Amino acid sequence: MPDMKALWVICAALVTSLAVPIWSRALNDVDACTGKSIYILDLAMFAADHGMPTCDVMKDMKIDPKNGIPYELDHIGFRKEDTLPYALAQHSGPWHLKEAIQASNHVSTDMDKADIIYVYDHCYYMLWLAQVHTRGRKLPNEDSPAGNWLIAGYHAMLNTSRWQRSKGADFVFYDPHPGFTDGTVEKDYYMLICDTFQHTMHIVVERGQRNICQAYWEISKKLLIVPYVPGSTDNARPLADFEQPILPLEQRQTLLFFRATCLPFMYMYPNNTRISTGKVMRHDVSLALGKTGPNVDVMCTDKRFGGRFLTFVQVMERMRSALFCLVLPGDSASARRTSEIFMAGCIPVFLGPPYGSMPLADGGIDYRASSLFFNVTDYRGWLDDDMVWQIPLNERPTHVCNPWVWIPDAPIEDVAVQIKSLDELMDHLRTIPKEVLDKKLEAVVAEREKFSFQPYITAPPSAVNIILSKICTSGQAWTAPVV
Ligand SMILES: *[C@@H]1O[C@H](CO)[C@@H](O)[C@H](O)[C@H]1NC(C)=O
Ligand SMILES: *[C@@H]1O[C@H](CO)[C@@H](O)[C@H](O)[C@H]1NC(C)=O
Ligand SMILES: *[C@@H]1O[C@H](CO)[C@@H](O)[C@H](O)[C@H]1NC(C)=O
Repeated sequence: MPDMKALWVICAALVTSLAVPIWSRALNDVDACTGKSIYILDLAMFAADHGMPTCDVMKDMKIDPKNGIPYELDHIGFRKEDTLPYALAQHSGPWHLKEAIQASNHVSTDMDKADIIYVYDHCYYMLWLAQVHTRGRKLPNEDSPAGNWLIAGYHAMLNTSRWQRSKGADFVFYDPHPGFTDGTVEKDYYMLICDTFQHTMHIVVERGQRNICQAYWEISKKLLIVPYVPGSTDNARPLADFEQPILPLEQRQTLLFFRATCLPFMYMYPNNTRISTGKVMRHDVSLALGKTGPNVDVMCTDKRFGGRFLTFVQVMERMRSALFCLVLPGDSASARRTSEIFMAGCIPVFLGPPYGSMPLADGGIDYRASSLFFNVTDYRGWLDDDMVWQIPLNERPTHVCNPWVWIPDAPIEDVAVQIKSLDELMDHLRTIPKEVLDKKLEAVVAEREKFSFQPYITAPPSAVNIILSKICTSGQAWTAPVV
């Protein structure tokens, strides 16, 4: 008997061009969650009693069509009509997850009986982010109302008997931005996240977000690093690029591609937090590799550093026809480009130190099989102190922009190629045997869809399936701390 649901989805997709592409089917459950129920604790439920407005991501902010970041509605940079669909916001992972849980058999409407509580703080969090981005960075004594609403919502949550029963051990938080430590609520926010929420599961986009917590060793037992939501070359179809055919290797014109914003010097924040290690690294790498051959397309986007800007459509086109795409960190370790490189079917080349995040390395994405790794000895151009090649036990970086803990999220020491200086990279890339490349490409294709986000459970799995499975399996090992 044909799978009726799949047929229905395909028909619906053809008729209304829903976000479900032909290759994927919507499902009601993931195996790992069989027998588990999940309650979505939307902080807006506390709004009326705690001086918070209600909050709706679809109405209360607009998403910059260029960078996928939220802005307040009155921001003058672009018109409300130009806003991106929310499903394409770079930080919209928690919304996809909420929608997927809601549409699944695993959802529960009973907070007391549910096995797992998914804290949907996303809307207030995004409003807070919008307020920070709209007006530029906030000074330590500057207020941001949405930050206060978030804190009020958390305090109301802490007051529920459901929280008190397990001290949050079966609660899940999803924090889709590396962190903006600005404004008056910063301290309260980190006190809650790092201390009060230390027994909860933390879904983040990079390790550094929680590594700055004193309770990291407790937190890291239930830490999941996940991808950003990638962009789309067609705003009406979030998954358009995942449907693009993968170009055979022999048809690819470009050997190595990279394009991103750079900075030529280290910019220090108070307390020795650098905001630009990765951007200085990008600048050095672009200078070293940019002129190494006609088929090398490695450049900053900044005009003032000799670069050239490309639209997202152009970036995707070039990555699709490049053999290798460089993965480098930026202001912090994570970048949406990593998702887009896999989406394009380009073979990722991780170059460090420091290294870019490897999302879902603990969730089944095989970086060793799909990617190449280079470890350069001469990194003095962008790192001015000795890297600590591990996560230190006693000392914490004060900020996610501090590059100490931008270490590979997958064990790659035995497969990383040691090079002395950047010049050696191209010779290595030019001489990799075809069989090796074929294998890499096969692995990239196998992992590709795991970087997609969809507001329902799908087959083959998207990032959302994997996250949901992890939520359910981490839950099994959870025991409430002794009170
Ligand atoms: C917590 O609950 C108590 C008693 O029900 C109430 O008096 C208090 O205002 C609540 N606090 C918050 C932050 O909700
Ligand atoms: C900077 O560090 C000092 C001491 O380590 C600390 O007291 C202060 O709060 C920090 N300032 C900021 C802005 O983080
Ligand atoms: C890179 O090389 C350093 C030594 O220079 C070594 O300590 C480190 O483990 C290497 N990292 C990787 C990822 O291979």
